[in-house]
Amino acid sequence: MQAKEIIFRKRGGEENTRQELEFLLNGFLRGEVKEYQMSAWLMAVYFRGMTARELSTWTELMWRSGVTFPKEPSSSSHQKQYWIDKHSTGGVGDKTSLILVPLVKTVCHKYFPELSIRIPMVSGRGLGHTGGTLDKLESVNGFQTRIDLTGAMKLLESQGFVMMGQTKDIAPADELIYALRDVTSTIESIPLIVSSILSKKLSENLDGILFDVKTGLGAFMSDSESAKLLAIHLRQVALDHGVDAVALISQMDEPLGRKAGNFMEVEECADFLKGLPREADLQDLVWTSASWMLHLASGRKLSLNDAQDKCRLVTENGMAYDLFRHMFESQGGRFDEFERERSQFKKNYLEFDFKATQSGVVREMHARKLGVLLVEMGGGRVVKEAQIDHKVGFEFFKKVGDRVQPGDVMVRVIYRQVSELVKIETSLNEAVKIELGHQKSLKTPIVREILS
Ligand code: URA
Repeated sequence: MQAKEIIFRKRGGEENTRQELEFLLNGFLRGEVKEYQMSAWLMAVYFRGMTARELSTWTELMWRSGVTFPKEPSSSSHQKQYWIDKHSTGGVGDKTSLILVPLVKTVCHKYFPELSIRIPMVSGRGLGHTGGTLDKLESVNGFQTRIDLTGAMKLLESQGFVMMGQTKDIAPADELIYALRDVTSTIESIPLIVSSILSKKLSENLDGILFDVKTGLGAFMSDSESAKLLAIHLRQVALDHGVDAVALISQMDEPLGRKAGNFMEVEECADFLKGLPREADLQDLVWTSASWMLHLASGRKLSLNDAQDKCRLVTENGMAYDLFRHMFESQGGRFDEFERERSQFKKNYLEFDFKATQSGVVREMHARKLGVLLVEMGGGRVVKEAQIDHKVGFEFFKKVGDRVQPGDVMVRVIYRQVSELVKIETSLNEAVKIELGHQKSLKTPIVREILS
């Protein structure tokens, strides 16, 4: 067998066999198939796609290039553990994972003790205009995201969840191939995205998974057809490997919730779980996601309405806040310091209030443009290794569909240097649009569709 022939067949739109895919991946991992050959094959997949069978096989091979979490034996013979995770395809202001873990665990503990849920959450960093869960977690000083499999298993055993980054042992083929895709313009391919995401998720040895596929101006898949196609394939490949799966398709035209920027998003999560007032979009997405996770974990027996009622109760009574704090402290985060910093950090930063100059209705808060600005302010990274400033960010006082009057503050910007102000103001003028005298509300539901 030759790599050249495998590339030739894919380039011509033929299906590669399991033997060919094995030869290609194993050869690549051993250094016998060269980076230029793998790149050529990736580009052929980009243009020609994969059949369902190829996608399932390729995902499995990528997953098996690394380790799989061993499941601990059930502590009680009556209680079957259910391993579940949630994966979002990324956006701006998306902090739902940080809320979901303590919320779902608290709801189970208080109301459904018969459900023994484990959440081995392996997350990523922000790249491009999107934020990443690991960066948000690390905005609490001391928090450790570099955890090996043994450490992860200990946390799963003691508290039922872990929030960690990908290690060298988890789907190493994906790490190498992702880096190649990044520099060969082959990121935006549905089969390559599906195999990349699922190779890592299958390593978590899950029973169930909830996908949150974003669509809109700030999403990877900006049009709804591609988002739906991605959701269908993610779900199908998960099911093929025996993992129960649900995919939400949610709106990412405007940033999610009230804040964007790592530290400020953790503040928003803390307030959410204390039961303080919340933005409707974030609340709807969190409660819908949490209910589906509980529903899946019950073997689809628990009603979604019942699950959602309990999520509401736990949120409104601030019952998950202690576990939120514990989530940081159990991995080295100094949460008291975080609470103290909240009232003080702005002294070291500059603040700019972007105000409405006319009356009307907010028509657009362009998530991608705002995400790009946040990166330029130092809050995100353009290359993987870059250092970020966790504290810069935005607070949104108006959302799409809200009425505004001249002088109303729409966005408060926390930034570092006076010289950045012209750029910030110009970018905000491009990202935020007001429709004059529009009477109709422009608000649309955050969850567009659920594939269950
Ligand atoms: N996230 C991943 O892990 N892989 C992709 O290819 C895209 C998003």
